[in-house]
Amino acid sequence: MTRFLHVTDLHVSAPQTNDATRQTDTVAALDRLIEVALRLDPRPDFIVASGDLTNVGDEASYRLLAERFEGFDIPVHMTLGNHDRRAGWHSVFPGHHAAPDGPVDHDAVLGGVHVVALDSSVPGRVSGALDDEQIERAAEMLGRNPDLPKLVAIHHPPRLDPSRNFAWATLDQHSTDRLASLLEGRSVLAVLSGHVHMNRVAMWHGVPLVVTMGQQSTVDLTRTDALAVVEGTGFAICDLLPSGLQTTFVPLAEPRLIKEISVDRLRAFS
Ligand SMILES: [Fe+2]
Repeated sequence: MTRFLHVTDLHVSAPQTNDATRQTDTVAALDRLIEVALRLDPRPDFIVASGDLTNVGDEASYRLLAERFEGFDIPVHMTLGNHDRRAGWHSVFPGHHAAPDGPVDHDAVLGGVHVVALDSSVPGRVSGALDDEQIERAAEMLGRNPDLPKLVAIHHPPRLDPSRNFAWATLDQHSTDRLASLLEGRSVLAVLSGHVHMNRVAMWHGVPLVVTMGQQSTVDLTRTDALAVVEGTGFAICDLLPSGLQTTFVPLAEPRLIKEISVDRLRAFS
């Protein structure tokens, strides 16, 4: 069984960045995420990080991220979100074909899955888009490894409901339509997104769209009068079962233990 983690919206800020817009202790959340990933059983084969890796896109914060992942034996396949800065990422993660300031689009085969990451960030904008060159590159990447199941990681979720979605919250309509036609007829396990800081699964042209809340904060979905940002941090454990992809959302905050039942006792329950 292939197991991977979906993490997103890490919004890491290095202490020396003095980031006044930082909402929570995202470095502590990152450390906890790494500690949890290393003790999960079974261990994840890889991690997909779908953007907003840092809060302000500065080099020091990417460096902190790179240092935390150094010696970490689980591959992390990442792309960028609207809070990231391409130049900042390239300066710390060298060797990418789009350096020094191009979009972080790239693919890899991990755990028998073809992972295609698309950079939907648009400098200066909150909403997302893919330009013509990116669509061409995406088509080329998606054409590779036709025998392997695919994952598409993209920070901005596609626009599912044009009549209700705020413009800032998704990919623009043109990019959404073009991405939909690129995925048609391919074996795509899921599209993995973030940006809106909530856990949500929806079907999109027959493909599950998995949005995970991320490590910085979430929103109070009972409030409709405003966007109320509240505490919340989590990630998703994704297991590729014989029946398809299983996604389990996991809160990352240190939980208060209420009761503990041993695995031996659990096995004995009928
Ligand atoms: Fe975010």
